[in-house]
Amino acid sequence: MRLILLGAPGAGKGTVAKMLTAIDGSVQISTGDILRAAVKEGSELGKKAESYMKAGELVPDELIMDIMGERLLEDDCKAGFLLDGFPRTIPQAEALKELLAKLGIELQAAVNLNVPREVILDRLTTRRTCEDCGAIYNVKSNPPKVEGVCDKCGGKVVQRADETEEAISKRLDVFNEQTAPLVGFYEKEGLLLDVNATSSDAVVEAIRKHVGV
Ligand code: AP5
Repeated sequence: MRLILLGAPGAGKGTVAKMLTAIDGSVQISTGDILRAAVKEGSELGKKAESYMKAGELVPDELIMDIMGERLLEDDCKAGFLLDGFPRTIPQAEALKELLAKLGIELQAAVNLNVPREVILDRLTTRRTCEDCGAIYNVKSNPPKVEGVCDKCGGKVVQRADETEEAISKRLDVFNEQTAPLVGFYEKEGLLLDVNATSSDAVVEAIRKHVGV
């Protein structure tokens, strides 16, 4: 599959991407995960990105395009890719279009995951993430078997640094201002697949039907 997963923070992009990778070996590329790993490592990229992320703001487009320009050239992308959290601004979408045209790669769809705001707020305040392998949990809908311990790797399951009430509210505002316009962008490109994302299983089914896998 060659898909973009669009949707507000907490819409379930990461959850759906992980379900889709198991279907045909497509790789999940999450700019959020790449940036969090860089912050944890203390790399140059991490140092540049950390303050934006903590405040719930977007990291500058140039940094993101440097990361993605390299990432999409890696071998594992040949089996397909699920772009999770990228693109997030119109300039990123335009740069991606140019990059894919150069590489001769065609997208199959930009999937817009629609979830009501009250559900999003509830999901974000109850999400927990493994700090080692990135597995996603939810204290209400999908808790780890042992509290605070990842079922998959035994790592520590924690709340993300951008999950304060203030940062969540900022991320939702930033989404509405800078990322929501991408829905119109991909509609014009003839790539939009709009789905109700209250159920992740239903999203996966809609995508499978759309791309024929
Ligand atoms: P990023 O990591 O991309 O965060 P996000 O877009 O805010 O998305 P989330 O990871 O919060 O949510 P999700 O949609 O993946 O939901 P999830 O599946 O976890 O970005 C973080 C930061 O990095 C940004 O703020 C920015 O600073 C920077 N950044 C990243 N990319 C960038 C870019 N391209 N440009 C500039 N800056 C960038 O699900 C949420 C919760 O709900 C979980 O607990 C899950 O278990 C639960 N859940 C999911 N689906 C369901 C369901 N169907 N039913 C019940 N519970 C569910």
